[in-house]
Amino acid sequence: MCGIVGIVGNQPVSERLVNALRRLEYRGYDSAGVATIEGGALRRRRAEGKLVNLETKLKEEPLPGAIGIAHTRWATHGAPTERNAHPHFTDGVAVVHNGIIENFAEIKDELIATGAEFQTETDTEVVAQLVAKYRRDGMGRWQAMHAMLKRVRGAYALAVLFEDDPSTIMAARNGPPLAIGHGNGEMFLGSDAIALAPFTNEITYLIDGDWAVIGTTGVHIFDIDGNIATRPRQVSMAAAYLVDKGNHRHFMEKEIYEQPEVVAHALGQYVNFIDNRAAPSSNIDFAKMPSLAISACGTAYLAGLIGKYWFERYARLPVEIDVASEFRYREIPLSPQSAALFISQSGETADTLASLRYCKEHGLKIGAVVNTRESTIARESDAVFPILAGPEIGVASTKAFTCQLAVLAALAIGAGRARGTVNEEEEQVLVRSLAEMPRIMGQVLNSIQPKIELLSRELSKCRDVLYLGRGTSFPLAMEGALKLKEISYIHAEGYAAGELKHGPIALIDENMPVIVIAPHDRFFDKTVSNMQEVAARGGRIILITDGRGAAVSKLDTMHTIVLPDVDEIIAPMIFSLPVQLLAYHTAVLLGADVDQPRNLAKSVTVE
Ligand code: F6R
Repeated sequence: MCGIVGIVGNQPVSERLVNALRRLEYRGYDSAGVATIEGGALRRRRAEGKLVNLETKLKEEPLPGAIGIAHTRWATHGAPTERNAHPHFTDGVAVVHNGIIENFAEIKDELIATGAEFQTETDTEVVAQLVAKYRRDGMGRWQAMHAMLKRVRGAYALAVLFEDDPSTIMAARNGPPLAIGHGNGEMFLGSDAIALAPFTNEITYLIDGDWAVIGTTGVHIFDIDGNIATRPRQVSMAAAYLVDKGNHRHFMEKEIYEQPEVVAHALGQYVNFIDNRAAPSSNIDFAKMPSLAISACGTAYLAGLIGKYWFERYARLPVEIDVASEFRYREIPLSPQSAALFISQSGETADTLASLRYCKEHGLKIGAVVNTRESTIARESDAVFPILAGPEIGVASTKAFTCQLAVLAALAIGAGRARGTVNEEEEQVLVRSLAEMPRIMGQVLNSIQPKIELLSRELSKCRDVLYLGRGTSFPLAMEGALKLKEISYIHAEGYAAGELKHGPIALIDENMPVIVIAPHDRFFDKTVSNMQEVAARGGRIILITDGRGAAVSKLDTMHTIVLPDVDEIIAPMIFSLPVQLLAYHTAVLLGADVDQPRNLAKSVTVE
């Protein structure tokens, strides 16, 4: 959600802090701020809106100082105004925070009763106020920090500066990630290793309950009881990734066009193309388990839903799946003989992590399908299945989705072999299809753009759009609707095509485009019947199908996008491409901020 950085340096930090914030802006961009200590005084600059506003302010009023903390905000408590922007200052204490202090109201009341005056509507200010109060009560800095951590409840990654100590940053983690970077005579702190990549690739991750005292030459880490804790120092891969847009207008566009390459890379890890076998090696044994649980949020959940079709079809493995925010509270009866898969691009999504811990408590083997290998979800899992998509910066997930699908497909085929439900010949046919996928993706991306741009012009004039699909195209219809609404702000819904007549058909009129995702698969004829129902009511159909589907459907559509004929197992990945591009071009035409849509953040570390 919010992004935080800190530098305990030996040269000026404010420009470097802002550069690091730029790499964290995907976490939130409602407001931003930076604080340093210079000449024994804490100073700050804050600005409402995007980071560029803070940069402008810093140009007008530079902020000297060789130690500092900074923040980019995704508002939870209090409007995204400059007044509520971090860092928060109280009596020589400066705080930046990612997360939610759940008992802030109770603490705030107590502090107000003792005379404290609050300047913001945020939950975070109680942290600064509490530490300042403990200092006034006579505690030292370390003691005050520890006492504050014992008092607050909730999720936090925190960085704290003390005006009377210009050589130390204190940090704490409970929930949202926090990475400490080891430099040369300087130390760094950040919400992820990518933010710190320009400074160092030597990283120590704090774990939940840890707090740290960071000086220029090293760090002391403690657990919540104040005992010294030792956490490994590791070399992060984050620096290996270039984070720029290349020749593309937006990260989202770049990430859509990267898909053939990254999907090929991901498949290479899970499939042996020499003998055409799925080769996912892991310590999760799919052979005998009675069922599999899958949980995730948003787009990752929709990838999981497609995965459910595959595990059930190819491995005859029953799958229990739900969005993580429901999964964890449903009190699902789970067998310890089962396994659970958690799908997450960031590997930090709070609800997904909570579901993971719930399953762990129930004794299930845990698998993580993640993009960020150093993430909390990866670290807490028994088996990690990296999707190898590289950093995804656009807030709307694209390449992570298709890489998640590629990995899930390979896992389902491997599970089918292990369970004896897919024989060698079937496995080879399925794997050969997967091997074809990157080439076909490239072919589709090179050919459909003109058609998509034309269609996007129509969509950009609409208020509502309906997406329909059957089988694995049903979750894809929901993904299409999610993509369109989140970046273009056009209202869109995804439905199972067969559900149309149970309600949504009432919406159909000549103003409502209906995007039907219908490869020529087992369900094609049924989906065509549903399209007839739409056509009979004057609905405008945009059909996304393949050559075979286009040849046999006799429907009068507003537009038809024709993709190559592909095997059923790779259709969701291939059909994702027009779905993503439609949303992208429509949003661009509407002048929307495609990479940073309003109200959203890439990494959702609060519940
Ligand atoms: C939508 C999107 C979100 C994420 C969701 C889960 O385009 O990106 O719906 O899929 O917030 O995030 P991760 O995968 O990081 O757990």
